[in-house]
Amino acid sequence: MHAKATACDKLPPSVYTLPQTAQLEALYTIIRDKNTSRGDFLFYSDRIIRLLVEEGLNHLPVIPKVVETPTGSKYEGAMEAGLREVCRSVRIGKILIQRDEETAQPKLFYSKLPQDIAQRYVLLLDPMLATGGSAMKAVEVIMQHGVPEDRIIFINLISSPEGLANFCSRFPSLKVITGWIDKGLNDKAYIIPGLGDFGERRYCV
Ligand code: URA
Repeated sequence: MHAKATACDKLPPSVYTLPQTAQLEALYTIIRDKNTSRGDFLFYSDRIIRLLVEEGLNHLPVIPKVVETPTGSKYEGAMEAGLREVCRSVRIGKILIQRDEETAQPKLFYSKLPQDIAQRYVLLLDPMLATGGSAMKAVEVIMQHGVPEDRIIFINLISSPEGLANFCSRFPSLKVITGWIDKGLNDKAYIIPGLGDFGERRYCV
């Protein structure tokens, strides 16, 4: 564990961070570096996102299940069968929220969510939790579609302590999985040290 990795000592109880290993720190160092190419940014941010999603899946409920192994032995394990009704296959939804320049408030521009989302667990992915405004708006949209707060797991790459505090006090029973907690925000509400504008680095050639 690297003590320096987490700027926020007292985390809300609903917040889980990835193990702050040297390997993870190396991945973050690459994506934070302004000289990293877009190709490497994509590759290494995807690696972190995969770790985050795996951690998110650890928070879905399981039920006991006994199987027989090829050696004829019984193995008492677990499976996600409790979720079978709702989790037959993963469905992807999309929400586009941008800051309204007139009101400075997050504004919903577009959402397309699975029809049966109310019966599902939702992993909500948003790479950068800065003030928390957009993430809170996204949760509102999902809850308006009938998903209870405690069935949503929020996954993100980098959080600010301010954003985490805002988000968790608004949705205390919603679990947050974050890869790294940074120092804070600058006067433009960018996370520092951060990695700049995630969308620009990932999508702009
Ligand atoms: N969104 C980003 O892409 N970067 C930040 O630092 C904050 C919000």
